[in-house]
Amino acid sequence: MSLRLGDIAPDFQADTTQGTIRFHEWMGDGWAILFSHPKDFTPVCTTELGYMAKLSSEFEKRNCKVLGLSVDPVENHLKWKVDIEETQNYPVNYPMIGDSTLAIAKLYDMLPADEPGTSEGRTAATNHTVRTVFVVGPDKKIKLHLTYPMTTGRNFNEILRVLDSMQLTAAHKVATPVNWENGDDVIIVPAVSDAEAKEKYPNGWKTVKPYLRIVAQPGN
Ligand code: BEZ
Repeated sequence: MSLRLGDIAPDFQADTTQGTIRFHEWMGDGWAILFSHPKDFTPVCTTELGYMAKLSSEFEKRNCKVLGLSVDPVENHLKWKVDIEETQNYPVNYPMIGDSTLAIAKLYDMLPADEPGTSEGRTAATNHTVRTVFVVGPDKKIKLHLTYPMTTGRNFNEILRVLDSMQLTAAHKVATPVNWENGDDVIIVPAVSDAEAKEKYPNGWKTVKPYLRIVAQPGN
C-alpha cells in the first residue's frame, strides 16, 4: 500500500554523496525534502537538481534539509554533480542517495508501474524512479507528496511556497488561500473561535462569510 499524508516517513539507511546516513537521525528535529529523479546525466534532471541547489539556502533558512535520490550509484552522482554546477551555476551541496538496489525507491513507492506484458519484472525503462517529492515534518510524518511526469521538470518554488504555508499553520493556526504567496493575507482556520481570534488579532480581521475570515499574515 502506498504512503499517505500523515503516515510516518519510513526510516532507512542509505549511501549518499556525503557518506552513509540514517534518515530520521539525519533529519534531527527539522523538516526534510526527499526527492527522486529518474536518471543522472539527463537534461531535465540536470536543470532540476541545479535549481534545488540554488534554493538550498532558502530551505536551510526554514530548517529544512534536502536529500536527492536515484538508482544511479554514488560514483555517478559525484561525476554528474560537476556537470550540474558547470551548467546550472550552483554547487549541489545536499546529499544524493545512490539507491542501486531500489530498496528506498520501493519503500517510498517511487517506481513507475511495470510494463504490461513483461513477466520477468522490471525492465530498463521501469527500474528508475519517477519524479517524486516528499516533504516530511519534524514529527517525521509525511506532509506533502508529489509525483510528476518524466518529461516535465518540477517547480521547486512551489515546494518552498507550501513549506512556508505549512510552517505558518504550525506556528499560528492559519491556512493559506489559493495562489497564496509569502506575505499575502491568510485565513483564520475554522477551529479558532471568534473569541480566540479577538485575542490573537486585536486589530481585527475581515469576515467574508462566518467560515471565511481573512487576516494579515502574522509576524509580517
Ligand atoms: C530528463 O531528465 O531529461 C529525462 C530523464 C529520464 C527520461 C526522460 C527524460
